[in-house]
Amino acid sequence: MKTRIVPISASSLREACQILQGGDLVAFPTETVYGLGALGLRSDAVQKIFHAKGRPSTDPLILHLPSPDLNQAVTHHWMAAPIPPFANELAKKFWPGPLTMVVPKGAKVPLEVTAGLGTVALRVPAHPVAEKLLQVLGEPLAAPSANRFGRISPTDASAVLQELEGKIPLILDGGPCPHGIESTVLSLLSDPPTILRPGSITAEMISQIIQTEVLLRSQPRDSKSALPSPGMLENHYAPQTPLYLCSAPIESFPSSYQFILYHRRAASPQAQTYLLCPDGNPSTAAQNLYRILREADQVGSQAIFIDPIPDSPWAPALRDRLHRASAGTANWANGQWNLRPRETT
Ligand code: TXA
Ligand code: MG
Repeated sequence: MKTRIVPISASSLREACQILQGGDLVAFPTETVYGLGALGLRSDAVQKIFHAKGRPSTDPLILHLPSPDLNQAVTHHWMAAPIPPFANELAKKFWPGPLTMVVPKGAKVPLEVTAGLGTVALRVPAHPVAEKLLQVLGEPLAAPSANRFGRISPTDASAVLQELEGKIPLILDGGPCPHGIESTVLSLLSDPPTILRPGSITAEMISQIIQTEVLLRSQPRDSKSALPSPGMLENHYAPQTPLYLCSAPIESFPSSYQFILYHRRAASPQAQTYLLCPDGNPSTAAQNLYRILREADQVGSQAIFIDPIPDSPWAPALRDRLHRASAGTANWANGQWNLRPRETT
């Protein structure tokens, strides 16, 4: 199959809708990362997502809704009544936006979307292209990140092409994604609610709205613990070059390695280094993370080393992604890197 990248226009949006309505896949930009969309209420279309990504069918998808109105979602049987506590308040505050809420599944949602679970993950994206597609379609799109399973999420159209060339007909090119890491996934089925995947909407921001504590699910221990969030595998978002998380800011730059620095360092060799946060704003680090990992991975060096992530509201999300992308930790002592492989069991 030939994969085309097309700029956003009335005619490319129309074509995307036609492809989707025909039961095929379209990659499109959201504010977080690029999504690989299919009509979310059609099993045959949803199955194509798993096939194109090489994603196991045990890993459930997010359903992207055309409207933040949860009553409408219940009426259409996208989610089941009753609406869980806090859901309406959170939808009002954070939708459209990078918050995914796990709620009881509605009868119209095929089991392929939820990997057989009785729950469904819902979100309303805040990106003009995603919003327009959903508006025109008038029904939900199932959309995981538009990468092959286990690889780095794409934050621009060329990264999607790198991941899925030949496997999908169309990529809508809306430029780089403004946020750069995936949405916060929050389960409303536990009491108190639990963050299953940290993102730019933090536990504190959610707590402040619902006036109750929010739990942060601890780091998953291994890839065999399938429930309650089957997609939260330990090995994810990974470059092919081994990535090591440094215990202190990097000050030595042996050749044949690549280095991702958080802040600029006077002594760093330009050819081997990438700067995650050039302006000191942690949201910039998030925006740059996957693009830089992808670039560093393409050099084909022996290893990539990355600075520690300083504390900020974005730190839990950044550290979560890096932990799962990493081969281990590193510290520099006695003139060499000491590497410790990550425990995965
Ligand atoms: O920002 C995002 O969320 C992007 C854009 C495209 O919207 N999408 C995304 O989808 O990251 P994906 O499939 O790569 O990640 C979905 C996450 C997985 O960790 C999955 O396990 C979790 O959401 N999830 C989906 N349905 C769930 C459910 N019913 N219960 C618990 N976790 C669920
Ligand atoms: Mg993903």
